[in-house]
Amino acid sequence: TWKLGDFARETIARIREEVGDARVICGLSGGVDSSVVAALLYRAIGDQLSCILVDNGLLRKDEEGAVISEFSSHFKTDLHVVSAKERFLNKLAGVSDPQEKRRIIGYEFIECFKEEATKIKDAKFLAQGTLYPDVIESGAAQDGPAAVIKLHHNVGGLPKELGFDLVEPLRDLFKDEVRKLGIELGLPEDIVWRHPFPGPGLAVRCLGEVTEEKLAVLREADAIVVNEIKSANLYRSTSQCFAVLLPVQSVGVMGDARTYDNAVCVRCVDTDDFMTATWSDLPYEVLARISTRIINEVKGVNRVCYDISTKPPATIEWE
Ligand code: XMP
Repeated sequence: TWKLGDFARETIARIREEVGDARVICGLSGGVDSSVVAALLYRAIGDQLSCILVDNGLLRKDEEGAVISEFSSHFKTDLHVVSAKERFLNKLAGVSDPQEKRRIIGYEFIECFKEEATKIKDAKFLAQGTLYPDVIESGAAQDGPAAVIKLHHNVGGLPKELGFDLVEPLRDLFKDEVRKLGIELGLPEDIVWRHPFPGPGLAVRCLGEVTEEKLAVLREADAIVVNEIKSANLYRSTSQCFAVLLPVQSVGVMGDARTYDNAVCVRCVDTDDFMTATWSDLPYEVLARISTRIINEVKGVNRVCYDISTKPPATIEWE
């Protein structure tokens, strides 16, 4: 870690020099990259930093909460939370095509961010959590689908028209180095070790049309999956774990009554690069606990499946 300590000190000095006394905006997504960028910027320029978090209503249970409290109480940054849940849900009403959902969410995100950013006076720079693999990827596959997805949906990919100069302090780092740097900067492990979460969020895990009711069911089921994986000490050894709400009802029995309720699929994968992935070989007792808890605790779900598909040919997400 001595090397990362040096990296942090040098980067902080470089940011100060680059930015002078101008204001810098940093978008927070809830993920590790943007959190580390914000923590680094805070160390470098303190109250010249303004953070924007767009709450699109598609985040995981309690996910934005941890980030909000970290960056408002611990780091005490000028934090702007844009509460845009209604706005996103209205735009998504009646839409079931996955790419159309992505387009809508990507577009609204940029609009929300832009509106909030223009309210912040004297902002000259935009800090982004671009990593070394992103730099390589966008150079190598300019028009590839992966690059397109990243450009449109990650906080790291706001359009140039915003008119800010970019600050990208993580450009030379790999993900594991970013995590170590996060620890070095005092971020909590909960944020530093967080699994990646797609920009379109729960919308692409709520198959078909997205509604507030479906999101509520999915959010509860998903929280149980993550919670049980963490309790079994498997969170760090798996790459992503989550619930998917299927657009399927099936018959069940509860007590003496027949039910006709939703099915949830649990997805948990191991991967190094997210281009290929295998399903995690979870112990049966963990799967059993996840299933029992979801069926007992989440109203409207009577069946739980485990996804045993590798990527390729299946993708990690279901949409
Ligand atoms: P797939 O489903 O393509 O996912 O195997 C590979 C990785 O990318 C994430 N992912 C996304 N990330 N916007 C994002 O920011 C998206 O639209 C998107 N789609 C997939 C996925 O969670 C996995 O880590």
